[in-house]
Amino acid sequence: MYEFDAIIIGGGLAGLRAAYELASNKMKTAVISKVYPIRSHSIAAQGGINAPLNNIEREVSDDWEKHAQDTIKGSDYLGDQDAIIKMCKEAASRIYEIEHWGCPFSRTVEGRINQRPFGGQGFPRTAYAADRTGHAMLHTLYEQIIRINEENKCLTFFDEWFVTRLIVEDNSIRGLIALDLKTGNLEAFKTDAIIIATGGAGRLYGKSTNALINTGTGMAIAYWAGAYLKDMEFIQFHPTTLYGTNILVTEGARGEGAYLLNSHRERFLANYEDSKRSMEIAPRDIVSRNMIREIKKGNAVNGLYLHLDLRHIGKKAIIEKLPGVVELAGKFAGIDAVNEPIPVEPAQHYTMGGIDTDADCQTIIKGIYAAGEAACVSVHGANRLGGNSLLETIVFGSIAGENTVRYLSSKKKSNDSALLIESAAEEEKEKIRQLFEKDGKENVFTLFEEMNSVMWNNAGIFREEAQLKEGCKNLKGIKERCNNIGIRYKGKRFNFEFYWLLELIGSIDIAEAVVMGAIERKESRGSHFRTDFPKRDDENYLKHTIASYSPEGLILSYKPVTLGYVEPAERKY
Ligand code: FUM
Repeated sequence: MYEFDAIIIGGGLAGLRAAYELASNKMKTAVISKVYPIRSHSIAAQGGINAPLNNIEREVSDDWEKHAQDTIKGSDYLGDQDAIIKMCKEAASRIYEIEHWGCPFSRTVEGRINQRPFGGQGFPRTAYAADRTGHAMLHTLYEQIIRINEENKCLTFFDEWFVTRLIVEDNSIRGLIALDLKTGNLEAFKTDAIIIATGGAGRLYGKSTNALINTGTGMAIAYWAGAYLKDMEFIQFHPTTLYGTNILVTEGARGEGAYLLNSHRERFLANYEDSKRSMEIAPRDIVSRNMIREIKKGNAVNGLYLHLDLRHIGKKAIIEKLPGVVELAGKFAGIDAVNEPIPVEPAQHYTMGGIDTDADCQTIIKGIYAAGEAACVSVHGANRLGGNSLLETIVFGSIAGENTVRYLSSKKKSNDSALLIESAAEEEKEKIRQLFEKDGKENVFTLFEEMNSVMWNNAGIFREEAQLKEGCKNLKGIKERCNNIGIRYKGKRFNFEFYWLLELIGSIDIAEAVVMGAIERKESRGSHFRTDFPKRDDENYLKHTIASYSPEGLILSYKPVTLGYVEPAERKY
């Protein structure tokens, strides 16, 4: 059995930032990740990270309060205001920290970190490294992790391992069980604290900008262990993904001035009340809905997609600021983005909901913390502003790490859980053996794709009761059919057919939480748009949805939103 002071699940920005805190405090820590850390989905973040740096001259200056106010309004007043204030107050210092570690941010002519406008924000607040900001940040942080680990030698990386179960006793974490994908063996880990930083659940949807690893299984293991999920119905759809593959085309392109055009070469956002002022840099929920409305009106190009036109920005600025967009449009759509418009459509991009934590990243189970997209702290509420996700990873990654250190330092090491962990490991081995030996008729990949279609068709950008209920019924059917799956390949090393069965079992429960939350939220707020309840209803729904696990099925309840700084008001741009 492995034994660590703390275990971090997930090797992306939030996980590594937490690891930095634990390593700085010489805590013996494991980082367990499904992929090598610099292959985590944080690498795919493009357009930037928000902070009121004031590097672009304006008549009025930016500050954390304006950032917080924009974030609260962007969240359609569902974000917890204490957490939002915390994030915005720390934003600038966390960005300077990673800059000083060597992150190659793009520069103004004066040599300051450059900032671009992003949706729903009153200032050009989004700092960036061209359109590969996540890549630059993740590599910088990983270098620092290697440096600090050479000094303190307390981090051990378990790359290409998959956590199947958390072990909780007396409402405290005791350990976990993980599968080594390289050998197919299950191993037990004893620990007094874990941080879940496994990212979002984008791959519930077939059309998504997310990496295939973003299945929501990290949320599922917490949910099965007794932690709550919060606000799962809030799924963000990004307006501009490359038509067909749904690879992200950064909002940074619109921040730099790109236009969205219909088949008549019209900037159609001007025709909609809620986007006519902010146009392409209205928030994502609004732009995505208006794109779908435009497509439904019959104004899509070739009846299929809309155009994102960069041409007027000019070759020099495009190449300098959006090289990734040029590359992906060329490689994946055969489009020369300097001279031709890019075909785009909205697709799933972000999971606003996640593991319920307070503003200290603490869940209801002692010793279990969560940070980044896997968590719902909640700083994004019903709709996340672009650029706040990278910020959340480094702010709350470090807070989760600091609080874990504090928790471990204040508690006596638990020495009596070895037997419990061994028996949980035996139980899990038997469960996994039975799953592995399944020889039913159903195919894992087919069922995964069916779940993807249900989520897109029944819990997408526009939702209504009958469609959601049908989605719920179909998900239950898929879950039932999982009992009749057959694993055709019986090798143990990197058995992806089996691994995807484990993913599917987690994803389907998370999908159910999304759909059931959406059925019961009979209003429209942020990304959750109900055609049968098109108005926001603060009287009945200014509250967080909580999903808890029971063997008989998911239980929904509600809890209040932390307000007190900005009064809810009509959300106009
Ligand atoms: O469009 C983008 O670059 C995405 C940024 C984000 O989701 O924060």
